[in-house]
Order: sequence, then structure tokens, then C-alpha cells
Amino acid sequence: MSPTRLTIAIDGPAAAGKGTLSRALAVAFGLAHLDTGLIYRATGRRTLDGTAALEAAQTLTAEDLQADDLRTPEVARAASVVAAIPEVRAALVDFQRAFARRQGGAVLDGRDIGTVICPEAEVKFFVTASDAVRAERRFKELVEGGHDVTLDGVLSDLRERDARDSARASAPMVAAEDAVTLDTSDMDIAAAVQAAIRLVTEKTGHA
Ligand code: DC
Repeated sequence: MSPTRLTIAIDGPAAAGKGTLSRALAVAFGLAHLDTGLIYRATGRRTLDGTAALEAAQTLTAEDLQADDLRTPEVARAASVVAAIPEVRAALVDFQRAFARRQGGAVLDGRDIGTVICPEAEVKFFVTASDAVRAERRFKELVEGGHDVTLDGVLSDLRERDARDSARASAPMVAAEDAVTLDTSDMDIAAAVQAAIRLVTEKTGHA
């Protein structure tokens, strides 16, 4: 019997812990990892230079994903704005699905992975945390990265972005029906990773 390919879908709002969890699961199960937010960030980044959103999505290159200013609050906002445009999302689907189908299996994290990009994923998580905890985490990251931000500003940016990501008509952020919700508000990351690894092993037999 050939080993089954494992796809893990991780969705949830900004700064809930998706990235850390995805990277840890990828290492634990020997899978490739794609942070799909980076694709939207790179697209949004190009619109800040004046490129039209659809053209930016259609002509996105691997190099655009390497830009070193994709983590700024301005780019996050631009990403959320372009992500609400259905044609932009459509232009980015093939790349994400091709990544998910790769031979060794993959972890993808984003907002619509379990619902739209990989509805067939063997394991789906919806990772959440309270607004206050998420804002604290993102504030700390941004300050460590040298950004001049306030906790209140970060909190209102997160809320604005989550509202836009959840309310859009095209592939809104929502937990897939078969997703397991992980609330990381009161968990340290090691505990969240342990819980997720146990779940993947229980569901798939992968160890
Ligand atoms: O995960 P992130 O914060 O880097 O994502 C940036 C924005 O991109 C987010 O506000 C919404 C959008 N996004 C999306 O619409 N669908 C995805 N699969 C990933 C991100």
C-alpha cells in the first residue's frame, strides 16, 4: 500500500498562532509548509507601488514573496483589501492547490484553506485566540521588528482586518464544518503544538 499523502489545513484570524503551529506540524510530520497570507501580502505590497490588484496577483513571482517588508501593518491592510476581490483570489488558487498536491504532503495556513483551497484535507484546524491576546502577540512581534506601533492601534488594525476577512462574499474566513477549533488564548505554544500533533496522529495514523 502506498503511504497516503497528508494535507493539513490551518485557518483562523491574524496572530492566533497559525504560523507557529503550521511550522511545527510541518517539521513534526515532514511536510512542506505554505503561508498563504504571504501571497496576499505580496500582492497587496505591489498595489502600494501603484500596480493594479488583479495584475499584481496574475504576475506574482517567487521573488515577490521574498520581499523583506511584507510584515508591516500597511502591507497587512493592503493584503486584506486585495483578498476581498474575487478575481484576485481566483488568480491565486492554482498556485496554492499545486503546492497542496505536492508529493510529500503539505501544511497550508490562511483563511480559506479548509473551505476552498483544500476541502479534502485530512486534518483541518481553526486556530483562534481572544482579541486581547492576539493584539499583545502581534504588538510584541512588531515592536521587536522595530515598528513604531501602539497596542491600541494594533488591536484596532486586527479587528478591522478580521471584520473585512470575515464579511467578504468571496471565500470569507470561516471554520470548515469538519475543522477542529483550537483556542490558544490560554495555551502556550508548546501545549498547542502538542495538542495538534496528537490530533493529527489520532485522525490519520501518521506519527
Ligand atoms: O495571515 P496573514 O495575516 O499574513 O494574511 C494577510 C491577509 O491576507 C489577511 O488579512 C487576509 C488575507 N488572506 C486571505 O484572504 N486568505 C488566505 N488564505 C490568507 C490570507
